[in-house]
Amino acid sequence: MSEVSETDAARALLRWHLEMGVDEMVAPSPADFYAWAPPQAGEPSVDGPARRGPAPRLGDVKAEVEAAPPPPDNQAISTDEAIRAAEAAAAACDSFEALEAAVKAFEGCPLKAGAKNTVFTDGTVGADLLVIGEAPGRDEDLQGKPFVGRAGQLLDRMLAAIGRSRTENTLISNVIFWRPPANRTPTALETAVCRPFVDRLIELTEPKAVLIAGGAPLQALLGVTGIMRARGVWREIETASGARFPALPTYHPAFLLRQPGGKRLAWADLQSLEQKLKGR
Ligand code: URA
Repeated sequence: MSEVSETDAARALLRWHLEMGVDEMVAPSPADFYAWAPPQAGEPSVDGPARRGPAPRLGDVKAEVEAAPPPPDNQAISTDEAIRAAEAAAAACDSFEALEAAVKAFEGCPLKAGAKNTVFTDGTVGADLLVIGEAPGRDEDLQGKPFVGRAGQLLDRMLAAIGRSRTENTLISNVIFWRPPANRTPTALETAVCRPFVDRLIELTEPKAVLIAGGAPLQALLGVTGIMRARGVWREIETASGARFPALPTYHPAFLLRQPGGKRLAWADLQSLEQKLKGR
């Protein structure tokens, strides 16, 4: 096996951490929690549990990196097989509950390995409005629910402005059900693997309108790029079975947090959505 320099080993370790979703520091130096033991009775408590064993040395890390299998390419089954498995699993579901169980049991999306939770939906099943965003972030991964972080709070306020809430008349989901590492944009393949479940969710819940929040779900659901031009224009999502559902693209609330100037146009989109839902 070829020699790995200390710099390469450190870089590989950092890359691996990022891929596993470690994107923030909680202490000035890394802690190996597998090497921690709870303090024994009478043992003075330091600012964490008592440590057992020495801290890992870079040399050990280097050996581990050299011995590690090559980065996964990325899963045991091919993406084609994963898409076919997702199609079969989704088609077999004849209720929302069956679909939720099928998504949670699905092992074909490589993102699942790095996520804490499957994030499927939140809100009122059977509502006439379905909101579809991009993918879970950190807060969503921790809580297992879509749109619960800052962007989600803004989304809730936007929906409340047209009389909509998760508890009464809105269902919320994403085109991806597992958090991508470091919140990167999901790849086309990851999106393709989740798509059969998204289609089945739309078919089973039969919303009167789908609000597409952001450019990534716009691309995933309609094959259209460029949210700036596409927002505010009604289109139709065609699902796997050929059913069609009215869909309105709008800005993602995370974009609006960064660019509050976009709220005027987002408000126009919400009003158009409200009219559609009222049947006008
Ligand atoms: N952004 C999304 O697109 N979805 C979430 O669930 C959270 C943030």
